[in-house]
Amino acid sequence: MDNQYHHSSSSSSSPSSSFGSLTVAERLQKTAELTGLSEEHLAQLSEPSNLKSSLANHMIENMISTIAIPVGIATDLLIDGREVLAPMATEEHWIISAVCAAAQQCRETGGFTTSASGSLMIAQIQLLDITDPHRARLAILEHRSEIAEMCNACDPMLIRRGGGFHDVDVRIVGSGEARQVVVHLIIDTRDAMGANTVNTMAERVAPKIEEWTGGRVLLRILSNLADRRLARARAEWSLEAIGGAAVRDAIIDAYRFAEADPYRAVTNNKGIMNGISAVVLATGNDTRAVEAGAHGYAARDGRIRSLTQWEKSASGGLAGSIELPMAVGLVGGATKVHPTAQALLAVLGVETATDLGRIIAAVGLAENFSAMKALATVGIQSDFMALHARSIAIDAGASESEIQAVVAAMVGSGKINGDEAVNVLAQIRSA
Ligand code: MEV
Repeated sequence: MDNQYHHSSSSSSSPSSSFGSLTVAERLQKTAELTGLSEEHLAQLSEPSNLKSSLANHMIENMISTIAIPVGIATDLLIDGREVLAPMATEEHWIISAVCAAAQQCRETGGFTTSASGSLMIAQIQLLDITDPHRARLAILEHRSEIAEMCNACDPMLIRRGGGFHDVDVRIVGSGEARQVVVHLIIDTRDAMGANTVNTMAERVAPKIEEWTGGRVLLRILSNLADRRLARARAEWSLEAIGGAAVRDAIIDAYRFAEADPYRAVTNNKGIMNGISAVVLATGNDTRAVEAGAHGYAARDGRIRSLTQWEKSASGGLAGSIELPMAVGLVGGATKVHPTAQALLAVLGVETATDLGRIIAAVGLAENFSAMKALATVGIQSDFMALHARSIAIDAGASESEIQAVVAAMVGSGKINGDEAVNVLAQIRSA
């Protein structure tokens, strides 16, 4: 994975800026050149229907087919001083160009700076029928080293990779009849997403918890509120890059809307997840786990808020930041099994799951920047409809050579709908 592109850069013009004007094959070729992709990975990405039935059949039950989703590349990303090409799997227009535009506009101010809290996952053990929860809590904590030993024995490979048991926490939740004791096993899962690992540990430890407390264990399962596995990204945009102080202030006002109103916060965060889930999916990771964690974290103080924060920077520009749980892995699951996910991870050039999570956080921030900027200025529909026009033209039956003309006519007249596409197509064909 070591190549010129994956080394640090400080240039304000990106080597990947021209992607939009290339053909599909040229883009892939350029991606391969910039990231030093192997022949095998290149061949894998060259084949759009790239998941064999024989393999897919082992991934799920009752498999009958596969559904292909386009994968594009977010360009111009300067993350922690490194040029990054981020593969994004998505069916929605605009999502990728939004990231590219945001990334382009913060290159001059240094791009994205990221960090992470670590790779700790939580497994929960629910303990019932306890009359004296405070005594039970201490009885469990007294066995910390035994719990550590039991957890670590479940996955010697994880220990070799520097992970394993980190801590045990015991919480008393609910009140009255509903009061119960909840044990948290806190496990460093390193480069694995870790669901199977921590679930196995919870099941292994549970009988001992019953023995030590006299209670009855019910659930033993990870928590997707992975708040000990946070990824963070921040960036600054200059007033010149965004179009002036009025745009900055409008974006901050738009952010305040999401902070104050759950109806807006959910849509705001959906936009962020447009970017995040696209990279999570492209790398074969569990989109639902990351989404559940993100939304739960956004609502951690009892009301849902924006996953991002926008403020005026010390130099008068616009400062954006994001922090969210990021349970992604590089080993295990579809990430390891799906050959396209492997090839796309090679495009990213990441060595650890934590590094992957940090890039994903930067993509989420970029996505939100572009949505906020569009929404707070010209509105989103002109961009959306211009891009959507292509799908409408295809739906109306336009061939590859006709699409451009149909789109241009619809955008020109401002009438972007199915009837208009059919009319324009008929005119083109009769001319
Ligand atoms: C559309 O998929 C996403 C947006 O609605 C996000 C937002 O409103 O911030 C544009």
